[in-house]
Amino acid sequence: MTDNPMLVGDRFLLGTFSSNCSSGMTVTKVPERWVNSWENNLALGRLLDDAGIDFMLPIARWIGYGGETDFHGGVLETMTWAAALLASTKKIAVFATIHTAANNPVVVAKQIATIDQIGAGRAGLNIVAGWNKPEYEALGLTLPDDHETRYGYAQEWFDVVRKLWTSDTHFDWDGKYFHLKGVKGDPKPLRGGVPIINAAGSPQGRGFATDNADFLFTPAIDLSRSTAEIAELKGQAAAKGRKVDVLTFSHVICRPTEAEARAWLEYTAKTNADWVAVDNLVRLQFAHAQSFPHDLLAHIRDLMAAGHGGFPLVGTPEQVADGICALHAAGFRGTTLSFVDYVQEFPYFRDTVLPILQARGLR
Ligand SMILES: Cc1cc2nc3c(=O)[nH]c(=O)nc-3n(C[C@H](O)[C@H](O)[C@H](O)COP(=O)(O)O)c2cc1C
Repeated sequence: MTDNPMLVGDRFLLGTFSSNCSSGMTVTKVPERWVNSWENNLALGRLLDDAGIDFMLPIARWIGYGGETDFHGGVLETMTWAAALLASTKKIAVFATIHTAANNPVVVAKQIATIDQIGAGRAGLNIVAGWNKPEYEALGLTLPDDHETRYGYAQEWFDVVRKLWTSDTHFDWDGKYFHLKGVKGDPKPLRGGVPIINAAGSPQGRGFATDNADFLFTPAIDLSRSTAEIAELKGQAAAKGRKVDVLTFSHVICRPTEAEARAWLEYTAKTNADWVAVDNLVRLQFAHAQSFPHDLLAHIRDLMAAGHGGFPLVGTPEQVADGICALHAAGFRGTTLSFVDYVQEFPYFRDTVLPILQARGLR
């Protein structure tokens, strides 16, 4: 078994987000936008692994957001993507992202145990209780209107998964949503479980996250709000005798000069943003999910175009490192990174920003 980077040490965690999705995190029409082919994902996975990056997190998406580019219309399925990446890398943790309503828990328990074996203990699971109504309709599922039902279902789903990972005997399950006979989990994850991510924004979802997750993801829109939010989440978990670390997601545009970085932001996410897709994305997020603060709409629209709402790390290597240090100071345990073209742009970040973070003691 190898270490799972999510479980060892106390450095500021760095990962990538959404490389399995067309256009990555930038809602842009520029021809340089990310191509989410397996070939590119494999190249990225190897670059990240060699550079000591901690994890890769995919988005599970079943229909795109429309617009000229049909943002996120092309998506590599996350369990199979994670399996192949784990087989092709040595150190990095790789998550699968799973919608509880679309995936039988007995099947998922075994899939995760399988990919954990493939990666010698480096698998992780991001649990999504659902928010995107048209997507549920596309899958032939009904998204419950209330968060109590969404997260009540997710809780029973995960209780089944956990029991399969920890019970050595066959068992029956007679719950509200699942009725199983003579089931048993074999194999199990190498540590009897894997790091769990949940990214809920609602109070009900945060109850679920502090009950079950090791890492809670939340947007970093206003760092003065983040500090209080993180303290509250950690307190909520501590009151249950649990520890939850809070992560966020960031979008990187790192160039030798600030002017060059700003020009790339303007070109990709202003002049050539796919605004129809941006507005569909914003509308859906605000209609069904509670992940973004509703009073910051105009600002969020720009952030959505640039990096799907991620914290902007735009500027010189020093400025990007300053932004990461600010996230750390606000109480975040780590962040994902996205780039317009991950494979083209990550090496400059690796060579210039990682040494600064190391010198400042974050890594
Ligand atoms: C970092 C991050 C990753 C997420 N990944 C996915 C995903 O892959 N698929 C998905 O449908 N929703 C995803 N979500 C949505 C959340 O799981 C959650 O449903 C959403 O933030 C709304 O919160 P709520 O359910 O508490 O209202 C993600 C959210 C964040 C912040």
